[in-house]
Amino acid sequence: MESFSLEGRTAVVTGGNTGIGRSIVEIFVAHGAKVLISHFRDEAGTAQYADALAQRGANVAFVECDVTDEHSVARLGDEARRHLNAIDILVNGAGICGEVPFGEMTIAQWDQMMAVNLRGAFLVTRQFFDGMKARKYGRIINIASQLAYKGTVDSAHYCASKAGLVGFTRALSYEGAPFGVTVNAIAPGPVETAMLAGFTDEWRAMKFAQLPARRFGHVDEIAPTALLLASETGGAYFIGQTLSPNGGDVML
Ligand SMILES: NC(=O)c1ccc[n+]([C@@H]2O[C@H](COP(=O)([O-])OP(=O)(O)OC[C@H]3O[C@@H](n4cnc5c(N)ncnc54)[C@H](O)[C@@H]3O)[C@@H](O)[C@H]2O)c1
Repeated sequence: MESFSLEGRTAVVTGGNTGIGRSIVEIFVAHGAKVLISHFRDEAGTAQYADALAQRGANVAFVECDVTDEHSVARLGDEARRHLNAIDILVNGAGICGEVPFGEMTIAQWDQMMAVNLRGAFLVTRQFFDGMKARKYGRIINIASQLAYKGTVDSAHYCASKAGLVGFTRALSYEGAPFGVTVNAIAPGPVETAMLAGFTDEWRAMKFAQLPARRFGHVDEIAPTALLLASETGGAYFIGQTLSPNGGDVML
């Protein structure tokens, strides 16, 4: 059997219709997994992506879910069990970012960042963790950020949420590992997605100059790390780790 095969495996990927999440969906599907894609709002883009996957005969289903809303997340859990029966792999990819100086940061901005990036991962993981433990198999992958380690200006809420996700990953891995459920995180560096689309050319040039790679990453340079952590053998002995494909920006 090919080492990274996901043949017969099932996966739920939040934020799976765009960016890094979509690239993870693609690599999971290419390696044989059946995937439930959790999407949010982007109706036109999601319909287009669903068509493209259907034309390729990919084994996927889509569910709309707001990870900040516990009822919406409960529906995601129900739909996942309906489509996939048992869930082997969960990727918590949904996330938001935003820049605001700390002195101007509102409580609402702080709370929204935590609600999506941290509480969202908590709510979604709750739907699947006990089932994985009972079946003595699971792979949970949280998409954090290298900014959990590095920090950056005007992003106290984002960096705190992602550092929280790294702590969540470590702590939960103690509870999962004895049952064959590994919990790990990926902390990407800057990656060309919609998340970075709003930044100016000057900002990009400044960031490129700081990066040993002298460029931002591509989503397809992140997804293979998810495949490694999701795979039965390759992922088995990574426990509570955060792997960081980041162009050399942070060397852990
Ligand atoms: N692009 C980067 O430079 C970078 C770097 C490090 C980490 N990340 C992380 O990678 C993950 C994916 O980001 P991306 O860069 O692909 O950008 P993206 O904007 O394409 O993806 C973010 C996804 O989160 C979803 N989302 C947002 N709010 C949601 C909500 N309330 N409920 C459910 N889903 C919601 C969006 O629909 C989208 O699919 C995020 O967690 C992000 O923080 C990105």
